Amino acid sequence: MLIRVIYVSTAVGPQTSTMTNSILKTAQAWNHANDITGVLCQGQGVFLQVLEGERSVVTKLYSRIYADQRHTNVEMIHCESIVQRRYGKWSMAHVSLSDLDPSTKIDWPEFDPYSVTGLLVMARIDDLLAAGTVIELADS
Ligand SMILES: Cc1cc2nc3c(=O)[nH]c(=O)nc-3n(C[C@H](O)[C@H](O)[C@H](O)COP(=O)(O)O)c2cc1C
Repeated sequence: MLIRVIYVSTAVGPQTSTMTNSILKTAQAWNHANDITGVLCQGQGVFLQVLEGERSVVTKLYSRIYADQRHTNVEMIHCESIVQRRYGKWSMAHVSLSDLDPSTKIDWPEFDPYSVTGLLVMARIDDLLAAGTVIELADS
């Protein structure tokens, strides 16, 4: 059974490109090998991540990510059973929220990571994917 989980968390320390690259490198390799797909949004001191895959695999991955010392206040904001993946092309796509800074205010005025809903997150990610300009796509 496939599920999709979305969580929000707060970075511990600055979100440097070294940190992001290290997370993405691990994520892309492991996720590819374990049939996990999704999107990592990062910036403004927060992470928002969508994880899709087999329920047992996502559950174990989520608990590993939850325990990761690079972030804290991890809160699941969405969990659902799915028939089809939404981000099936990406072992972990990357959205930089800091690059979006000026436009986030315009395109995502209601952006408040700890009160945003999973449905809104997905709608915004889909807008970004459609725009094609503010996302780095990771080959799976
Ligand atoms: C915000 C964030 C997102 C992460 N996303 C993933 C991911 O999608 N896949 C993955 O394998 N590891 C991801 N990691 C890394 C894991 O937390 C963990 O470091 C990695 O799975 C290695 O676990 P281990 O040290 O217990 O072997 C993420 C870490 C952070 C901080």
